[in-house]
Amino acid sequence: FTFFSTTLYANSHSQQHFDTGGLSRESFPEGFLFGTAASAYQVEGMASEDGRGPSIWDAFVKTPGRIANNETGEVSIDQYHRYKEDVDLMQMLNFDAYRFSISWSRIFPRITPHANLYHYDLPLALQEKYLGLLDRQVIQDFADYAKFCFKTFGDRVKTWMTFNEPRVVAALGFDNGINPPNRSHHLILSHAEAVKRYCEKYQAKQNGRIGIFLDFVWYEPLTRSKADNYAAQRARDFHIGWFLHPLVYGKYPRTMQKIVRERLPKFTKSEVEKVRNSFDVLCVNHYTSYYIYEPHQPPSNVTGYQQDWNTGFAYERNGVPIGHRAHSEWLYEVPWGMYKAVTYVTKRYGSPNIILSENGMDDPGNLTFPESLYDINRVNFYRSYLKELKRAMDDGANVTGYFAWSILDNFEWLLGYTSRFGLVYVDHNDLKRYPKLSAYWFKQMLERKKILS
Ligand code: NOJ
Repeated sequence: FTFFSTTLYANSHSQQHFDTGGLSRESFPEGFLFGTAASAYQVEGMASEDGRGPSIWDAFVKTPGRIANNETGEVSIDQYHRYKEDVDLMQMLNFDAYRFSISWSRIFPRITPHANLYHYDLPLALQEKYLGLLDRQVIQDFADYAKFCFKTFGDRVKTWMTFNEPRVVAALGFDNGINPPNRSHHLILSHAEAVKRYCEKYQAKQNGRIGIFLDFVWYEPLTRSKADNYAAQRARDFHIGWFLHPLVYGKYPRTMQKIVRERLPKFTKSEVEKVRNSFDVLCVNHYTSYYIYEPHQPPSNVTGYQQDWNTGFAYERNGVPIGHRAHSEWLYEVPWGMYKAVTYVTKRYGSPNIILSENGMDDPGNLTFPESLYDINRVNFYRSYLKELKRAMDDGANVTGYFAWSILDNFEWLLGYTSRFGLVYVDHNDLKRYPKLSAYWFKQMLERKKILS
């Protein structure tokens, strides 16, 4: 490890001895992968250089008032140029894998690449030409793009994912009161078509696997009442079931069928076949949990997807908060939710091979430098969530990897740079990287025991 000047890493935190809560590499099965995750637009920079065309995010961030401080990903943390340094950092911290997304050719040779084909950044040209994901044409275009990537990078990339958080793409991107979940239709079929092409032509030859990322919040009934239990189940079905149910069983969850009725898209027979069982590995992004209750009256001011879903959300029970809130207002620290979420997916969906593909918390961007580096909250967060993940595995969940979000502070979408999710601090003035306490916590936890010969 000679790439950096020692001053960068010789802060006192690197000497710290941590309480790993009994966790170590050996707590997890042989071959279990530990990685960190990020996405192209959030870290690359060089957004309008070197032949890159704009994505819908490049256009979106230009409208004043959309992003905190009107920041953009134009430069971001410049991983476009600093990827070697960043991969060295990952290795220094004892991580095995890097989850990134492709928007341009990227290759990270000494770390197992986990490549994602779509992380919110649809080419603007397709949006302008035919409204992008709202038109069936996108199914073929996405599959062509996927095929190009399999062909070009498949000799090195052995784990492929089609979409990151399609629920977020559909719900936040399109739920402006028209009538989603219709809008998810092309996401599911685009995914299935890309998977089909991979399986037909590349999988055997390249010896790889393919899947999708689904975000999953754990929904706990607020009380034991039947009504609250049903509301929580409805929330789970509308959240992860919307995508996972078709991907496993070829149809939407019963609650959705009952509520959305004829507005729910129909799959043809051949589409059912294509969609059913369309993944080798299921990536679950999990951060937080909420209490759910049956509201006494239908909500006003909400439309489409949210209206169909229609549950009350609570962040405390009998005056006790569900967990500490991180900087992002949606993010409460609820370690037990990790156990429940993973166990639920395991039981309801036939014990799929799960990768826990995102987990982490953010601090405000304006803490002082020493405060940012001394991120004891983040250490506690990771330790407690990982213990719960392990508990789910001990109880039978088939989890084969875990990725922290994120290795470095980066562009957090609408929050711009006012939110910091990194294990490593980035000074946005000179883009220098400084590992936080949590980075060293992982380093120690992931240390490989020396084998005495
Ligand atoms: C979800 C998304 O995949 C990622 O882009 C985002 O930055 C993190 N979670 C944190 O909000």
